[in-house]
Amino acid sequence: MTHYQALRVTQQSPDDFHCEVARLPLGELGSEGVLIKVYYSCLNYKDALSAAGNPGVTRTFPHTPGIDAAGVVEQDPSGVFAPGQRVLISGYDFGMNTPGGLAEYCRVPAQWVSVCPDDLSLRNAMLYGTAGLTAAMAMQKIQKLQPEVAGRRFVVTGASGAVGSLAVLLAAHAGYSVTAVTGKAQEFDRLTQLGASQCLPAEDLLKSSPKPLLKPEWDCGLDSLGGAALVNVLKATAPEGAIANCGLALGPELEGNVFPFILRGVSLLGIDSVEQPLETKRALWQSLAAVPLTAEQEALIIREVELTQVPELLAAMLKGSGRGRVVVNLQAKG
Ligand SMILES: NC(=O)c1ccc[n+]([C@@H]2O[C@H](COP(=O)([O-])OP(=O)(O)OC[C@H]3O[C@@H](n4cnc5c(N)ncnc54)[C@H](OP(=O)(O)O)[C@@H]3O)[C@@H](O)[C@H]2O)c1
Repeated sequence: MTHYQALRVTQQSPDDFHCEVARLPLGELGSEGVLIKVYYSCLNYKDALSAAGNPGVTRTFPHTPGIDAAGVVEQDPSGVFAPGQRVLISGYDFGMNTPGGLAEYCRVPAQWVSVCPDDLSLRNAMLYGTAGLTAAMAMQKIQKLQPEVAGRRFVVTGASGAVGSLAVLLAAHAGYSVTAVTGKAQEFDRLTQLGASQCLPAEDLLKSSPKPLLKPEWDCGLDSLGGAALVNVLKATAPEGAIANCGLALGPELEGNVFPFILRGVSLLGIDSVEQPLETKRALWQSLAAVPLTAEQEALIIREVELTQVPELLAAMLKGSGRGRVVVNLQAKG
């Protein structure tokens, strides 16, 4: 094997980036770190930002995005991993300024690599990927504050997206009563089948409200939008509630007030699944492997594609059309 296929983002001019599948020499990956044959990757919002040349994610081009990968070790000069071991890589600098998982091969430091739990297929590991780790971590943080789950109301914003769909599935599986908030009315059925007790249109949450607080609608939840959505979610959280935020699809600003914190004791929890110690990630992978996933649920979440379809899908993600989990099959020879 001398060459491999990879997604390649090139900079044409200061504001113009082009994304296509290219055939690259394997030697470009260098000779240090664990060489992994990638079987599956998946699409995350951050990959879309990287492919669009967002300097907050990727600074040097040409570049191969992909913050998640599931594959098999080909070679490890450090001797930590044996050839043939099934492994997962997620987060750190993978796919940001280090060539990522949207490629047939990758090479990464051994400190970024987790062994894939026996009871998790490489494909289902990428059904979860960073999005699943993020949703699982949010629930873990919320449950540290509110260990009781039964009868608690859990809200999810951006519910049709990758993090959102998985948060609906995992929160319902844990026993919460889940409210899914989505900008896509056509997704209500799918979200209900994933476990949502009710679905709300995102429209109302996106308007800024002059009211200092809103009627309490939920006890906890995960917001992946930021901006006005997060402000309104906080205002409508019940006393002593906890809201985790992981994303900024609506923007990084937070123009709200402190009343949810000082009048209702609401907690705002930050989620960063990317830079967690490998031990924490391993434990999260194990917790995800233990979630029983029916074939119907799998079909409701996964859309499996090939690498050639990725440029178009990444561009669509930036427009808010993300739906469930796009899993990329890197070894499909279509
Ligand atoms: N902190 C962390 O560790 C961490 C980890 C993973 C992801 N994230 C962040 O979490 C967020 C969601 O990631 P994802 O992978 O789930 O993305 P995604 O699959 O593209 O989903 C994002 C969802 O947000 C909603 N949305 C509403 N307005 C949008 C807009 N203007 N642009 C884009 N989306 C819009 C859409 O859902 P509806 O139509 O249903 O409203 C969309 O499906 C991103 O900001 C990502 O960077 C953070």
